[in-house]
Amino acid sequence: MTGRLDAAPKVTGAAGYGSDRTLPGMLYGHVVLSTVAHGEITAMDVAAARASSGVVAVYTPFEPLELTTPQHPLLGGTWVPLQDTDVAYHGQPIGFVVAETYEQARDAAMLVGVGYRTRPASTSLDDGLAAAEDGPPAMDGSPPSLAVLAPGVESIDDALADSAVVVDATYRTTMQNHAAMEPHSAVAIWESGRLTVHSGTQGADLQADSLAQALGLDPSMVHAVNPYVGGAFGGKGQTAVPTFLAAAAARELGRPVKAALTREQVFTATANRPSTVQRLRLGAEKDGTLVAVQHESWSATTIDRGFVEPTSHGTSRQLYATRNLAISQKMVPLNIPRTTFMRAPGEAPGSFALESAIDELAVALGMDPIELRRRNSSVAPPGRDLQWSSKHLDECFTVGAARFGWSARTPGGRVDGDWLVGLGTATAMFPALRFPASVRITLRDDDTAEIATSGADPGTGLLTVLAVLGAESLDVAPDRVVPRLGDSALPAGGMSGGSTATASAGSAIMVAAPLVIDELVALATAPDGPFAGREVSYADGRLLAADGRSLTFGEVLRAAGRTSVAAIGSSAAGEEMTKHSFSSFGAQFCEVRVHRWTREIRVSRMLGVFDAGRIVNEQASRSQIIGGMIWGVSAALHEGLEIDADGRLANADLASYLIPVNADIPEVDVEFVRRPDTLHNPVGARGIGEIGIVGMAAAVANAVHDATGIRVRHLPIGIEDLL
Ligand code: MOS
Repeated sequence: MTGRLDAAPKVTGAAGYGSDRTLPGMLYGHVVLSTVAHGEITAMDVAAARASSGVVAVYTPFEPLELTTPQHPLLGGTWVPLQDTDVAYHGQPIGFVVAETYEQARDAAMLVGVGYRTRPASTSLDDGLAAAEDGPPAMDGSPPSLAVLAPGVESIDDALADSAVVVDATYRTTMQNHAAMEPHSAVAIWESGRLTVHSGTQGADLQADSLAQALGLDPSMVHAVNPYVGGAFGGKGQTAVPTFLAAAAARELGRPVKAALTREQVFTATANRPSTVQRLRLGAEKDGTLVAVQHESWSATTIDRGFVEPTSHGTSRQLYATRNLAISQKMVPLNIPRTTFMRAPGEAPGSFALESAIDELAVALGMDPIELRRRNSSVAPPGRDLQWSSKHLDECFTVGAARFGWSARTPGGRVDGDWLVGLGTATAMFPALRFPASVRITLRDDDTAEIATSGADPGTGLLTVLAVLGAESLDVAPDRVVPRLGDSALPAGGMSGGSTATASAGSAIMVAAPLVIDELVALATAPDGPFAGREVSYADGRLLAADGRSLTFGEVLRAAGRTSVAAIGSSAAGEEMTKHSFSSFGAQFCEVRVHRWTREIRVSRMLGVFDAGRIVNEQASRSQIIGGMIWGVSAALHEGLEIDADGRLANADLASYLIPVNADIPEVDVEFVRRPDTLHNPVGARGIGEIGIVGMAAAVANAVHDATGIRVRHLPIGIEDLL
């Protein structure tokens, strides 16, 4: 088994992150944030800041760094700071102070005086529900509201009214921040009109493209370099505020500029997962067959109508077979920090609602929740003809139930001393996608091969995946493969997002490998090559002739007088999309212990069993899933941004924005069913980046209900909910 290639540099500190670079003559920028939630900036007094020791420049909406909003087909428009005087939320970037040292910039930023004409701010999703608007279309283009009804059924209400058993419940989830360990930061350097940026991102070519658009440059003039990214989870898909500001200021000042958000600033100056309200109505026959599913969702969004958490279009569209399905997705524009994708956008909070409701239905029917899920498992997404390419969800539940000891469960929990013990389960799913990606394979005369793509490894394991699949495609040992990524000068790898990178880059490797081997054969069999005019075959990293003579690819290159030979392979989702539906699946299991008197909630056991196609690298895959499952516990019991009446985040730091620590998390048990899905892509691997979080919060909530009889329909669940 290949371990993670980036593990040693990361844990020893050898890995260089964006802001780790320090250059001669470098300046430091500090971002200034708004202190009101809604209004207009009438004036900014920067005299004291400008006069402050070491300050080189102060930029504001009145003396801005000119930036144009970049557009991207997948990411949409990326907001750029300082271009107008509108304030849409508390903590919005409104200024940038540049000085000789970081401390000078930070201290001067505190001297900036701001005058506001304030307007009333709306910050509460609940208060805004009555004024909700239709949300945007789903990623697949389907409208915000849609219904699939059986012949003769007039409405979802009729279908529900005809159901023997109905669950009607409303769930709430909170705003969350990605809180990646590496705060958003950048080092920007200009040389001869060319910009080099070191800044953590989910896609170097995307970042270079957005900077080129923002700064009015030809894309060839921007070089984004970020081999290490300290966590992203959707929060580094779009280019961040300090990256735009550092790049623009460095151009203007003619010196390198470093800018980093403080931990507190990350919570408002980047973007968050919006809060949601979700109403689920499930109708079933007495045997548990679902006949009607209605999922109505309201997502908070920014006042300029940014990202909307697509809870209705996620799980409820996919998970269960039902004759009647109706979903709607509404949005409520608020004066809150910007909103964006976060790990399993839609599915994570959506599955809390749906999988809690399914558990409520199981209780109402007196049925085992796994049996209920099995009975309604979909062979295709409702309303679509295309069957799942490969679905082994039942096997996930079978394997998981045996491993977790589900058969010993006593509905209603059991008592262990002063602890009430309950078990919960939930289904996980996340659609399997693929984005366009290119990979270059270079065979070198020292018998090593470079596998290179611009794409990012924000901790997901892509670097290791490149090595494993590169070695496999070239039929050589992994230690002869040198993977490279995180550099926009390399062939465009697209975004590490949407749980796509292994399938996308891996497929491109499968295309590139035969191309580069063809190049090698052409060199070898050319008139002046070592196998001139002969038939050769390739295996084990060698060319082999019929007479048994063989040479390694390095030997071939040396004989041909070459140092290397290279080929680029490109791949994108294609015809397969018209033949099947694609998704990863999983079964989540959780045991909680609730203290009889203090109501303290402990997760004591957790297991996830996943059907994600082929598992390319065991260690990186397990890490992804473990991280996701822990995040699910975090969503269930710890995490959530609180916004006060003034629109200020009350807990925008890692002291009060609770996330689990080791003491909160038991050993996380992960298993894979390992059924390669070659209908999806030649590697057979589907996504694992996001599915680990999906369903986990519901599994915890369902276990809490099992232990206590109390159904908590909001996240996070606190002691006060169980009194
Ligand atoms: Mo992920 S939320 O697609 O980075």
